[in-house]
Amino acid sequence: MKLLDDRPDLIAQSGRGTIEAMISFRSWQPNRLLVFALVAPLAALVLLAGCSGEPEDDSPPDDNAGAVDIPDEPTYHEHIAPLVHDHCTGCHTEDAIAPFALESFEEVQQHASLSHATMQAGTMPPWPPAEDCGDFRGERRMHPTEIELFGRWLDQGAVAGEQSDEQLPDHSEDIDDAQPDLTVDTGVDYTPEPPEGFDDDYRCFVVDPDLDGDRFVNSVDTRPGNPQLVHHMIAYTAPPEADDEIAALKAEDDRPGYECFGSPRYSGSRMIGGWVPGAQRPLLEEGHGLRVPEDSRIVVQMHYTTHHNGEGSDRTEVDFFFVDEQQHPDPTELIIMRLAEMDMLIDAGDPDATVTAETPLIPQSVTVHGIAPHMHLLGTNVRVDATTGDGDICLIDIPDWDFHWQGLYLYEEPMQLARPFRIELTCEYDNSEHNQPDGQPPRDVTWGDESTDEMCVALIVAEVPDDLEL
Ligand code: HEC
Repeated sequence: MKLLDDRPDLIAQSGRGTIEAMISFRSWQPNRLLVFALVAPLAALVLLAGCSGEPEDDSPPDDNAGAVDIPDEPTYHEHIAPLVHDHCTGCHTEDAIAPFALESFEEVQQHASLSHATMQAGTMPPWPPAEDCGDFRGERRMHPTEIELFGRWLDQGAVAGEQSDEQLPDHSEDIDDAQPDLTVDTGVDYTPEPPEGFDDDYRCFVVDPDLDGDRFVNSVDTRPGNPQLVHHMIAYTAPPEADDEIAALKAEDDRPGYECFGSPRYSGSRMIGGWVPGAQRPLLEEGHGLRVPEDSRIVVQMHYTTHHNGEGSDRTEVDFFFVDEQQHPDPTELIIMRLAEMDMLIDAGDPDATVTAETPLIPQSVTVHGIAPHMHLLGTNVRVDATTGDGDICLIDIPDWDFHWQGLYLYEEPMQLARPFRIELTCEYDNSEHNQPDGQPPRDVTWGDESTDEMCVALIVAEVPDDLEL
């Protein structure tokens, strides 16, 4: 791993990288100041955990969980509607982000064969992590017997069957009625304007939360103003020192907010939460949180997509739930460490380029709560492994990277990395002619924030070890 302080040339090159924005694992020694990488040029990260339709379950993992019996003659009303309700209608409703609703017999029947194909291919419901690596909260995965059941229904003519009197539960009932501690509003009705040739517009809005002390974010919930446009939201803090940089970014065009593909684009940004359609309010463990310093601004990065309906405008509200300080006067602070390789060159035309980053051997044990790998549009595979005092651990493996479906994945049970340990990140890219996002001929690609640049990053949400001073 290259540290930014080793690479003054890169600091200059990225223009907004700063030393404190990089993790310096090298200074990770007992009682020494740790310079954590708090997320400068980081991008579209989404808390995918807590998808709707999946009730909280404390029972131990069971390989047969979700298995269904497959009757000889399945019908829509008895067998398929509950399955589609569990796995699809978190997103596939009228007026939501997915391109069509799957709420009625007619709708499901009409899209049945493509739906079956996407289930078999594993692309729907979207859940990028590989099954055999990491056990994440809110996993959106179908059991093979469920896919088989859907297939049999399709093969047998996709019949409706008897409508039952039983009502499927309303997804909105899954949402609890906790009151947020802070609600942030993007402040304007914004009409997405993707760059020429693209469907997606990444726009950042800056809000002053006006806090009277530091707070610890335990969870975030998002109420999109126009669910057809909002693909996801990521919230960051911005220190007061970033004011000038942000002012310059806003001056780049005369629309509200500023353009922010791939990252919020100022120094010292720290991610504090995110949201995608279909996700419930994802919770960190009780009493755990990500710090929002008193004098921070909050920057809300909206990813808008116009691929099935470019019309209308959006004004999104974001609810923050802080650690309750009466109950937890001494919250457990989680920090986001960043492992990255910025010194990268992906040759024009290379169909299978690999970039790796590795931490030095770290002498303390650390508890890891979540992970978010990040690349841009040429990325194909990304994987993070740990070699620990207790053996090797696969932290995450995303075999078919999709920039538009990335996330911060929270572990079902926090992962203990026994000392001494080392974390290794492997990013793979396809820079061949057929994989060019803008349809232009391939060119050499290096690290950067633009959609035609690349990144190789893993953000790791960890508990600060007790014997470490920050
Ligand atoms: C987390 C939200 C979400 C869930 C859950 C989800 N979808 Fe989708 N689906 C989308 C979005 C968004 C698209 C549009 C394409 C994209 O952005 O990937 C889509 C596209 C599709 C398509 C069109 C694919 C294509 O290639 O054009 C099909 C078919 C589909 N979904 C079926 C399903 C089925 C069946 C389920 C449940 C088993 C499901 N989806 C669950 C969000 C979701």
